[in-house]
Amino acid sequence: MAASILPGNDSASIEAACAALRTGGLVAMPTETVYGLAADAGDGKAVAALYAAKERPTFNPLISHVTGLEMAEQLGRFNTVARKLAAAFWPGPLTLVVPRSDACPVSSLACAGLDTIALRAPDHPVAQSLIKAFGGPLVAPSANPSGGVSPTCAKHVADGLGDRIDLILDGGACSVGLESTVIGFEGDQPLLLRKGGLARQDIEAIIGPLRLPDAASPKASPGMLKSHYAPHAKLRLNATHAEAGETLLGFGKTKGAMLNLSTSSNMQEAAANLFAYLRELDASGTSRIAVAPIPDEGLGEAINDRLKRAAAPRDSE
Ligand code: TXA
Ligand code: MG
Repeated sequence: MAASILPGNDSASIEAACAALRTGGLVAMPTETVYGLAADAGDGKAVAALYAAKERPTFNPLISHVTGLEMAEQLGRFNTVARKLAAAFWPGPLTLVVPRSDACPVSSLACAGLDTIALRAPDHPVAQSLIKAFGGPLVAPSANPSGGVSPTCAKHVADGLGDRIDLILDGGACSVGLESTVIGFEGDQPLLLRKGGLARQDIEAIIGPLRLPDAASPKASPGMLKSHYAPHAKLRLNATHAEAGETLLGFGKTKGAMLNLSTSSNMQEAAANLFAYLRELDASGTSRIAVAPIPDEGLGEAINDRLKRAAAPRDSE
């Protein structure tokens, strides 16, 4: 049976969602980045069901979502830099990977057996109400079948996972539209594990230059698969025009585009439109999408990261 879509800003919906979560169910919740598929982080069976619903490889650990630093510090050990980042950017599109605390109740499957845990306080009233009402952390990967385009509205979730989950809370369109930026640590040294909805320079303004992990390092984000966020159509990047058989996704002053991520070259707007537009182009039936160049600055870094993965050869090829 298809999951029902309930208005997220309604206490009866939050109660229904909590009831589903308490019995091991899966609930899609809006966040400011993308919609997440939530399960009780402490319930190993629920977490296993979540991996199965998404067909996600179990070596790819999940983010535990919390109301804020107080709940987070029960789950992980924060160093000074991590605390500073949480104070500056939570709630918001930033995930911090820190050592698990000794008494951490989060299922080890959720952390893929690692001794670290990824934590984030989402900046969305519906996600905040749900975590608060549930009274503990919720794991939530993006609410889409693994490898596909992340959902930025309730309908996207219903299209991809509607028949495999219990409930969808509708919170409208996501304001950020890209997954959170993930920061991990090597000792006390912060590392940029995933580019995302919080621009690198905003973080560097608080804590100074960020390093990227070496590709070979075990600290590299285990979930950063080469092919990811992929629509059905093939992508060609940095295109100045569409060739025969291609549909053009524009940015700024691009001419002849079917859709334009932001005619005013506004990065926030482009980020918020990216996944919805890739889905819309797929739905138009085109088999090839040409994407105009996006400056690699600010949120453009994360947009280009997602586009590169969306354009990468698929694992099945
Ligand atoms: O914005 C977001 O982050 C969304 C919303 C729903 O919060 N969630 C999301 O989750 O994007 P997901 O599962 O698609 O991405 C989680 C990322 C993956 O790249 C994963 O490898 C990384 O976080 N991660 C989780 N735990 C980790 C750990 N212990 N060490 C290193 N990376 C970790
Ligand atoms: Mg994802």
